[in-house]
Amino acid sequence: MRMSLLRSASQHLRRRRDYSSASASPERKVAILGAAGGIGQPLALLMKLNPLVSSLSLYDIAATPGVAADVSHINTRALVKGFVGDDQLGEALEGADLVIIPAGVPRKPGMTRDDLFKINAGIVKGLCTAIARHCPNALVNMISNPVNSTVPIAAEVFKKAGTYDEKKLFGVTTLDVVRAKTFYAGKANVPVTGVNVPVVGGHAGITILPLFSQATPASNALSHEDLLALTKRTQDGGTEVVEAKAGKGSATLSMAYAGAVFGDACLKGLNGVPDIVECSFVQSTVTELPFFASKVRLGKSGVEEVMGLGELSALEKEGLESLKGELLSSIEKGVNFAQES
Ligand SMILES: NC(=O)c1ccc[n+]([C@@H]2O[C@H](COP(=O)([O-])OP(=O)(O)OC[C@H]3O[C@@H](n4cnc5c(N)ncnc54)[C@H](O)[C@@H]3O)[C@@H](O)[C@H]2O)c1
Repeated sequence: MRMSLLRSASQHLRRRRDYSSASASPERKVAILGAAGGIGQPLALLMKLNPLVSSLSLYDIAATPGVAADVSHINTRALVKGFVGDDQLGEALEGADLVIIPAGVPRKPGMTRDDLFKINAGIVKGLCTAIARHCPNALVNMISNPVNSTVPIAAEVFKKAGTYDEKKLFGVTTLDVVRAKTFYAGKANVPVTGVNVPVVGGHAGITILPLFSQATPASNALSHEDLLALTKRTQDGGTEVVEAKAGKGSATLSMAYAGAVFGDACLKGLNGVPDIVECSFVQSTVTELPFFASKVRLGKSGVEEVMGLGELSALEKEGLESLKGELLSSIEKGVNFAQES
């Protein structure tokens, strides 16, 4: 009898603790656009596991009811709803604090991210037009490639709608950071969990510039050739996956992980957690280019500070100069598409 009373009291206390920790974290609605895709599905799973999410809205042009029903059975905080087709896009977005966009087509072997431009540019433009109408204050995490162009497209759409806030638009480059950390830890033979490597520039080929000179923990064991090889592997990480999947798409699982890490950082920033810093492709004055990826401090209204590049090695300085032409032309391609279409 006494035992059962004690057990029920402790269960009651546990329930109260659960309740108070849930209520300490504000309501946050996250919408994923392209939620039934290769990235969208595992990303929906990971965001369902995130205790900061109270409402998870899964939108796609097909198949979201099934994904939503499946994910909704997981016994975590977020209430999940599936939305399908243009008619339901507005409801999917209404009240969102964070919109994550992995909608579009992925690369096939032999394609560059720029080859995706024609299809994905139109998809992103349509989705951003709806965001401007239904949740103009949401943070937007752009995953759809080519990120170097889709972010400028989103900015133009928002400017046209009169809702643009440069603090709220992010190109997700976290997968480059995730890869740089993994490859560096392997080469430098250090435990990967403590590794940090900033990756700056853009999100395609040579525009991806990992700053291994700033990697922590520092390593003296890496030769110039090692650093060249690490840089190239980070830049070609996406192609490595595209080729290994041999026609069945590009990175999905590692991208979903990276998207979930970045989405979590954005939510923590919104909730006022201090010192949340991630690399992202944002409007920038760090170089002469209008958009550039670098470390960004996240806060209650999105970007709190776009941080500088710090000291670069000779190799990195060279990489920086040689990426600018390609990055600028991808940015201009996005701006021109949005202004002309
Ligand atoms: N930023 C990065 O690091 C990174 C990494 C990998 C892939 N990507 C990009 O992410 C995108 C998605 O890749 P994936 O492998 O998940 O592709 P996928 O084809 O498996 O999934 C894409 C999903 O988008 C949906 N979709 C298409 N048009 C839509 C629209 N108008 N509205 C809503 N949904 C729409 C499709 O129905 C599909 O479910 C691609 O552009 C890919 O290049 C980015």
